[in-house]
Amino acid sequence: MIKPVILTGDRTTGPLHIGHYAGSLANRLRCQDSHEQFLLLADTQALTDNAHNPEKVRRSVMEVALDYLAVGIDPMRTTICLQSHLPALAELSMLYLNFVTVSRLERNPTIKDEIRARGFGRDIPAGFLCYPAAQAADITAFKATVVPVGEDQAPLIEQTNEIVRRINTAAEREVLPEALAVIPRSGRLPGIDGKAKMSKSGGNAIPLSASPDEIGAAVKAMFTDPNHLRIEDPGQIEGNVVFAYLDAFDDDKVTLEEMKARYQHGGLGDGTVKKRLEEILQALLAPIRQRREQLSQDPAFILDTIRQGTDHARERTEATKREVIESLGLFQL
Ligand code: TRP
Repeated sequence: MIKPVILTGDRTTGPLHIGHYAGSLANRLRCQDSHEQFLLLADTQALTDNAHNPEKVRRSVMEVALDYLAVGIDPMRTTICLQSHLPALAELSMLYLNFVTVSRLERNPTIKDEIRARGFGRDIPAGFLCYPAAQAADITAFKATVVPVGEDQAPLIEQTNEIVRRINTAAEREVLPEALAVIPRSGRLPGIDGKAKMSKSGGNAIPLSASPDEIGAAVKAMFTDPNHLRIEDPGQIEGNVVFAYLDAFDDDKVTLEEMKARYQHGGLGDGTVKKRLEEILQALLAPIRQRREQLSQDPAFILDTIRQGTDHARERTEATKREVIESLGLFQL
């Protein structure tokens, strides 16, 4: 049986947090048997907005790989590979840039949002503006047909498919498959402060490596309903971070719905709800932290995993690159 190819990646800009777990890692664990899965340590993409901080990008490669392994990604079933060591991705990016216009890149909603968020103003690194073409190279080099990404990344997959159609038109045959963006239903986990996005740089994340005390402190500091002052007051669920996390991590939905009803009605204190969340997060993260500590004793194993995965990925991506070059009718030596 031929399994569909699934590709996702993470910019290597810091260790992963529970937002990554809810949004993608849990799904990646489920896909290990049903799909041929590749996980890309996207260090060259990380550099597009971190050129001033290559040390962070470099250090995070091992950190993210460690997080993958700690949550249970199995290198026998999932290929973990390093973007900067797959030259075909860079070469395909260069070819694809001829099939997109600058104005189309500037109109990409993901890029527009990120330019604003990063405050680039007029000083946009060219590599950053062009990263949709590079992400198209990532996806197509593996001939991935399934790409699970957050909602904010959907325009990148759309642009990938535009490039795919142009290449196929130029080649007069279907060299590359289109990819389907699979967006998690749950949406993005907010930061502990209630901001829309959990991020390490925002200081509002709970890393997968958090200690029991750090988890406790984070839950204690979590944003709830500022108007829910006394236990008997009615409380709000919308915008309440504790309930957003319970939605993501509490498997007992029946009890959760009861708690929500009681909270909204009045009579359920923040302390009780937080206690439940803390228990769930402690139970979720304890085995991950333990495996992370164990694995971090053996950096050679992690390095070897990345090396072997990257070797495997290199064969795959080189083959696609050759096919694209040939199909575009370039001179062959
Ligand atoms: N852009 C993704 C992120 O910021 C990372 C990424 C790079 C990616 N290449 C990819 C995701 C290919 C999916 C497919 O998280």
